[in-house]
Amino acid sequence: MELPTRQISLSFLLVISTLLFSSASNSDEFVQCLTKLSKESAPTVSKLIFTPKNSSYNAALLYSINNLRFTRPTTPKPRVIITPTTESQVQSVIYCAKKTNLEIRIRSGGHSFEGLSYVSYVPFVILDLRNFNQVTPDLRSATAWVGGGVTNGELYYRISQATSDYGFPSGLWGNVGVGGLISGGGYGMMRRKYGLSADQVIDAKLIDVHGKILDRKAMGEDLFWAIRGSGGGSFGVVIAWKVNLVRVPRTVTVFRVYRSLAQNMTNIFYKWQSVAPRFPKELDIRCNGQIFLSENSTRPDKKIMVMNFESLYLGRVDSLLKVMKQQFPELGLVREDCFEVSWIQAMVFFTNLPLETPPEVLLNRTILNRIDFKGRSDFTTKPIPIKGLEGIWDFMFQLPNGTAFLQFTPFGGRMSEIPDTALPFPYRAGYLYMINLYALTDEDEANRLQWVRNIDDYLAPYVTSNPRSAYVNYANLWMGTNNPRGKTSYAQASKWGKRYFKNNFDRLVRIKSKADPDNFFRHEQSIPPISLSLWSDM
Ligand SMILES: Cc1cc2nc3c(=O)[nH]c(=O)nc-3n(C[C@H](O)[C@H](O)[C@H](O)COP(=O)(O)OP(=O)(O)OC[C@H]3O[C@@H](n4cnc5c(N)ncnc54)[C@H](O)[C@@H]3O)c2cc1C
Ligand SMILES: *[C@@H]1O[C@H](CO)[C@@H](O)[C@H](O)[C@H]1NC(C)=O
Ligand SMILES: *[C@@H]1O[C@H](CO)[C@@H](O)[C@H](O)[C@H]1NC(C)=O
Ligand SMILES: *[C@@H]1O[C@H](CO)[C@@H](O)[C@H](O)[C@H]1NC(C)=O
Ligand SMILES: *[C@@H]1O[C@H](CO)[C@@H](O)[C@H](O)[C@H]1NC(C)=O
Ligand SMILES: *[C@@H]1O[C@H](CO)[C@@H](O)[C@H](O)[C@H]1NC(C)=O
Repeated sequence: MELPTRQISLSFLLVISTLLFSSASNSDEFVQCLTKLSKESAPTVSKLIFTPKNSSYNAALLYSINNLRFTRPTTPKPRVIITPTTESQVQSVIYCAKKTNLEIRIRSGGHSFEGLSYVSYVPFVILDLRNFNQVTPDLRSATAWVGGGVTNGELYYRISQATSDYGFPSGLWGNVGVGGLISGGGYGMMRRKYGLSADQVIDAKLIDVHGKILDRKAMGEDLFWAIRGSGGGSFGVVIAWKVNLVRVPRTVTVFRVYRSLAQNMTNIFYKWQSVAPRFPKELDIRCNGQIFLSENSTRPDKKIMVMNFESLYLGRVDSLLKVMKQQFPELGLVREDCFEVSWIQAMVFFTNLPLETPPEVLLNRTILNRIDFKGRSDFTTKPIPIKGLEGIWDFMFQLPNGTAFLQFTPFGGRMSEIPDTALPFPYRAGYLYMINLYALTDEDEANRLQWVRNIDDYLAPYVTSNPRSAYVNYANLWMGTNNPRGKTSYAQASKWGKRYFKNNFDRLVRIKSKADPDNFFRHEQSIPPISLSLWSDM
């Protein structure tokens, strides 16, 4: 996805809407409770606590907010932000939040599409895991412990510092957190070879609602299954993941080529739909569609539609060109389009930075532009006919250039070999690709949101139905939300739960009902517990 430059504006937040919540009593109590329980000295722990009275509060809040749609003055703000450095501080946060009746939101990379990690409409605190940022590779077992607050970029960089023979199949953009990403499954450019990020998780450290620190053995296989795909924020705080590192060649090949409508884009893309999910596992080609302005356009508005085909091939350019010639000659890929690089440089490339940028850039948490957007997702099981595609392009032409983005991510390969009940993520064999769609909402918001709704309706006949599919990591509150207080019924939560998880949703509800029956860990689309006596009615 290529996005326009727009730096975050601090002025958004300068109107301190926290004044709305001036009855600060339980936040004072919360802070006192934390300080009292702390094993560290009061001055040490106070440095980790931000309330609206601190001048650094806004910076602490904005630190990782990635969707600027949730930085408006009207967006509810947390009473307290706490950035713990130890497990016992996290335990205290859970204890004190319960005691003072505050909700907690757990934040890792802050990339939730709907601000679920830092917005709530009831009084709340943010538990920000930015200090749980250690990556500890163990090359003998080809595994690593990865802190719950680590970003993709930090993970990739730390692995590359330890070895050139291994990588990890996490997401594309360096600034996204593995706390949220792995909690919802997580896909990247190696998913056709190694599956989802969560498929490579072999252990975890979770702090549950009782403040207990649980590893895989202690939490049991049900809970361990649930935290690897249910979307985060429903079962506890993931302090660290233990993951398998995966083999990568010393040299990989990347490319990003552009084809406009005038350059046969529609026919090429039509073919892509059926070949991309069947390529060798080493090859991933995904597509990003966008509108630009060009003098070459034959339209009065000068718009052109362009698709970029971006790719990672786990091998050298010669063998890539052979595969392309056999399986996808329509793209017309030539050697000059391709770059042979190390795996870590490829990860820089998929963070949308110039290929030669030193990999240390992956440690910079503010390197990427933040945008104000609404996004949604779907999965397909059959190619969309040409007429259907042309209808999608027509929608793209309705918005100004540079404000709408289409993304097509092919599945197949390893993804098809993993049973759809192995983890909560159910879109495995038989699914061709995922469609994502984004519109910028920094201007003309009502219209842009309506546009997203319209294209959502338009896509219905072309994508899976009953239930219509969606990816939990692309959270979309239009599908429904939990009641902000009190209980949510199984039927109500099924409206989004079945769309994210299909029948795995029932197992998630059952596990939640046992692990957190009072629903302490909650957000707008968290898994709701139901009373176990009602279970037989389900
Ligand atoms: C620009 C951009 C690029 C993206 N690229 C990809 C991609 O390539 N592949 C992909 O699969 N997804 C991608 N996503 C989606 C991404 O996986 C989700 O938005 C994910 O939830 C972000 O995780 P986070 O830690 O950054 O977000 P946060 O907003 O911090 O957290 C998201 C959710 O997880 C919960 N959570 C976070 N950390 C923890 C924890 N340690 N323990 C328990 N709960 C936790 C939060 O409470 C919240 O509900 C992208 C999103 C954006 C905005
Ligand atoms: C916030 O203000 C309090 C009270 O002045 C202070 O003790 C604390 O250290 C401040 N927090 C931070 C993170 O600076
Ligand atoms: C466009 O693509 C189609 C299908 O792949 C092909 O038959 C046709 O020759 C192409 N046209 C041009 C002008 O390249
Ligand atoms: C416009 O057309 C010319 C000639 O075909 C081509 O070289 C150029 O790249 C095109 N520009 C764009 C923006 O497509
Ligand atoms: C991170 O990137 C931003 C944007 O390019 C830049 O302004 C900032 O100085 C960088 N931070 C560090 C520590 O390099
Ligand atoms: C739209 O196109 C113009 C001309 O190419 C460009 O200057 C502008 O930045 C584009 N707008 C967006 C939002 O991309």
